[in-house]
Amino acid sequence: MTVATTDPTPASGEMAGYGHRDVQPADVTLRDLEWTDLTRLAELEQELFADDAWSEATWWSELAGRPRRDYVVAVTPDGGIAGYAGLDVSGDVADVMTVATASGAQGRGIGRLLLVELVRRAVDRDVEAVLLEVRADNDTARRLYDRAGFEVISVRRRYYQPGDVDALVMRLLVPKGDA
Ligand SMILES: CC(C)(COP(=O)(O)OP(=O)(O)OC[C@H]1O[C@@H](n2cnc3c(N)ncnc32)[C@H](O)[C@@H]1OP(=O)(O)O)[C@@H](O)C(=O)NCCC(=O)NCCS
Repeated sequence: MTVATTDPTPASGEMAGYGHRDVQPADVTLRDLEWTDLTRLAELEQELFADDAWSEATWWSELAGRPRRDYVVAVTPDGGIAGYAGLDVSGDVADVMTVATASGAQGRGIGRLLLVELVRRAVDRDVEAVLLEVRADNDTARRLYDRAGFEVISVRRRYYQPGDVDALVMRLLVPKGDA
């Protein structure tokens, strides 16, 4: 299956929550992560994830993990990074490693665009399910995943420390042959 990476349309009907909407994130295009992005990604991590931020060294390691790791960035017309997301694909399962939108670009559909692209890539790689973990108190991310059709399949109690915050494990089933 080949779909242009700039096309936010779901690869198939699996993301029914978004399939019939007509929201276009303003002025971003998607491309694969490149090594020249890593310094900026480490800065964005600090801004978005604070104590859990990935360092530039971690990003180098993630980039070296290709093709099992598969990262995409959303780029503005001036070349700035508005968001990024990635997968770990192993056998029949793809795990969402991260989805993030720069603070100043949130609420414009970029997170949705990135998630749709991750699912499209997972479908291309013939997985049966896409899994992710999200903090139970991250209402924005939960809404993003709920709307994309992900369902909570288990709860890891007090997984995030400090703070005793539960992790919700969510899954989107991708029927074989759907691509
Ligand atoms: C979660 C995140 C990626 C969403 O990115 P985004 O580009 O703002 O998302 P979108 O604009 O595509 O919106 C996705 C949904 O979240 C909702 N949303 C966006 N910003 C919101 C806000 N501040 N408050 C409540 N809901 C919000 C949108 O309304 C949309 O829901 P809808 O489709 O029902 O309208 C972004 O908030 C982020 O990077 N957060 C910090 C990092 C993070 O927590 N990542 C997830 C780790 S699991």
